[in-house]
Amino acid sequence: MLNCKINNLINSKTKLLGVIGHPIAHSLSPIMHNSVIFQNKTNNLNKENISQDINTIEKLKELKDLEKNTIDNLNYIYLAFDIEPENLENIVISAKTLNIKGLNITVPYKIDIMQYLDEIDEDAKKIGAVNTILFENGISKGYNTDGLGFRKAIEELMEIKDNKTNNNKTNKSTKNNKILVLGAGGASRSICYEMSKDNAITIANRTFEKAETLEKYLKSIGHKNVNSIKLEEFEDMTKLMDYNIIINTTSLGMYPNIDNTFIDLSKLPENALNGKFVVDIIYNPFETKFLKQASEKGATIQNGLSMLIHQGAISFEIWTNEKPNIDIMKKSIVNELENKNKNEID
Ligand SMILES: NC(=O)c1ccc[n+]([C@@H]2O[C@H](COP(=O)([O-])OP(=O)(O)OC[C@H]3O[C@@H](n4cnc5c(N)ncnc54)[C@H](OP(=O)(O)O)[C@@H]3O)[C@@H](O)[C@H]2O)c1
Repeated sequence: MLNCKINNLINSKTKLLGVIGHPIAHSLSPIMHNSVIFQNKTNNLNKENISQDINTIEKLKELKDLEKNTIDNLNYIYLAFDIEPENLENIVISAKTLNIKGLNITVPYKIDIMQYLDEIDEDAKKIGAVNTILFENGISKGYNTDGLGFRKAIEELMEIKDNKTNNNKTNKSTKNNKILVLGAGGASRSICYEMSKDNAITIANRTFEKAETLEKYLKSIGHKNVNSIKLEEFEDMTKLMDYNIIINTTSLGMYPNIDNTFIDLSKLPENALNGKFVVDIIYNPFETKFLKQASEKGATIQNGLSMLIHQGAISFEIWTNEKPNIDIMKKSIVNELENKNKNEID
């Protein structure tokens, strides 16, 4: 019986996906992707079992539900690989040799891996970093799903807001917004690149020169509606009112330094952020001090889980041509983070 189940879970046709980084033990990607893959395999097994013995309407309904939510032939497994810097150049050849189907690339290799790839998607080229590789017909092609993952997250946030207010006829859109981006590091670069395609972006960063460099770069590739601003300008907090979306992409407020914030939103008047969207791309803790303050001043808030999941979902689709179940991905990560935090407190 056990053998039969293992055959159904992993067999000689199972294709390999993975993530490379250094270090990698903290990565949530294996849990996120495997949760979808193994839930799907379990659904397939249940489908098979039920279809052999349908004797009630409930069972028929269960079978229909499973059929709706199950993808055939999603035979993958996702592993994490800790790669020493001196081995990076061998990764692409090794992956091709082993018929690996897809890889995610994480810190510190998102830029360095590019030189070893056969092809790079236009957006990833312009962002200057790759977080996903597809191996197909002996060719390795690099993509960057971070920016688009962020756009999907904002779309989700705006839909949630509309559901809450029962307002179906919304004119909210991920286009034509005035967006303030705090931070000018790697994550900011992907987000600013994607969102400056059709929004006005202002970048503020501790090291002002980095914000200026990002502004100049984005303008040089035709994203004209970008500017950078010195932090001192926010001594007058009413400046924040110029934007309808504010995004923290800095690492300030991330566990364990949870009392840090980039801008102290508690100084704003009551309800000052009503109608505005405030996002922090940090997901540990779920609610940073920055988000808590924003919520207290009336903003609709979102943490970094949604971006993390959507960038992963886009990678998954690049590799498998299938849309993964976002809810399963989210549940698996929330569980993992809650357990991790609980264990650290215990
Ligand atoms: N949700 C997701 O999917 C997702 C994806 C990627 C990253 N992230 C999160 O985003 C954050 C940034 O990641 P990254 O890859 O962009 O890192 P990064 O390239 O190292 O950039 C870090 C940014 O934070 C700023 N910063 C760091 N310490 C600061 C301080 N003490 N005071 C003021 N500013 C400070 C840096 O400013 P300077 O330029 O002045 O140093 C820079 O703008 C991390 O928390 C990461 O976990 C989330």
